Amino acid sequence: MKLTTEVGGLTLDNPTILAAGVLGTTGASLKRVARMGAGAVVTKSIGTEPKYGHPNPSMVRLECGYVNAMGLPNPSSKEFLQELNIAKESGVPVIASIFGGTEDEFKAVAEGLPGASAYELNVSCPHAKGYGMQVGTDPELVKKITRIVKNTVDAPVWVKLTPNVTDIRHLGIAAQDGGADAIVAINTLKAMAIDIDTGYPILGNVHGGLSGPAIKPVAVRCVYDLYEALDIPVIGVGGISNWADAVEFMMAGASAVEIGSAVYEDIGVFASVSMGISDYLDRKGMRLKELIGLSHRLVK
Ligand code: DOR
Repeated sequence: MKLTTEVGGLTLDNPTILAAGVLGTTGASLKRVARMGAGAVVTKSIGTEPKYGHPNPSMVRLECGYVNAMGLPNPSSKEFLQELNIAKESGVPVIASIFGGTEDEFKAVAEGLPGASAYELNVSCPHAKGYGMQVGTDPELVKKITRIVKNTVDAPVWVKLTPNVTDIRHLGIAAQDGGADAIVAINTLKAMAIDIDTGYPILGNVHGGLSGPAIKPVAVRCVYDLYEALDIPVIGVGGISNWADAVEFMMAGASAVEIGSAVYEDIGVFASVSMGISDYLDRKGMRLKELIGLSHRLVK
């Protein structure tokens, strides 16, 4: 079954996308993920100034996923531009993940990274002071940030939302009102872990964000709710590690999926997820479009 997908202003060969994270730090690593079968890749989140990030340990594997508090480390848009250009040699769409503390900062980063296939606004990191969900839980600010970037770039704008709110639909509607081309749900769930030998919190920053299989049901619920509330596509992310997870997200309403934590276990995950979706559609005699939002049509 053909898996070509149009989502949020982009055409992808298949609906699997590398989520923003460590593998998006260099042009070479982004190219490698593209070669391994990703339909598109998202960079590590980039800001206006170089940022060292939070103290180590900043990413720890737990039984149910990972907790991280990287703290948005990045070399600045000025330094990262060359990496973006290297990543573009891969031939797949390269989406620049950008962050800021104000709408003007978002504008400046977007201007500093010309030529990305799309821009993913990170208004959802759970543990970076002054950034992320500190700006991204205020619907008015989400709308303003989305609008200013949309008016700055000549490319689609996606907005990545936090699940750390009572009702994620308010944020989705705000981003849509600001002109977003797609919503990406979800960023990590606020969390922490303690080493019981020493009593110390495991992460250098104490608090962090949980990713991986533990958050999948939360992400599926967010995608389901957003799909119902919005007219723009939803891209699902959170604990997807195999094709069955991807199919579940699509039934909830995801037009495409981003994969983060699972890449650290298996860089071949994009190809195996695509193959699995294709085989599933063949078995069921369905087209990809029919899968997206299927559960909503059954429930109604
Ligand atoms: O969990 C996260 N960690 N989400 C983000 O958006 C950024 C990242 C980091 O750099 O800390």
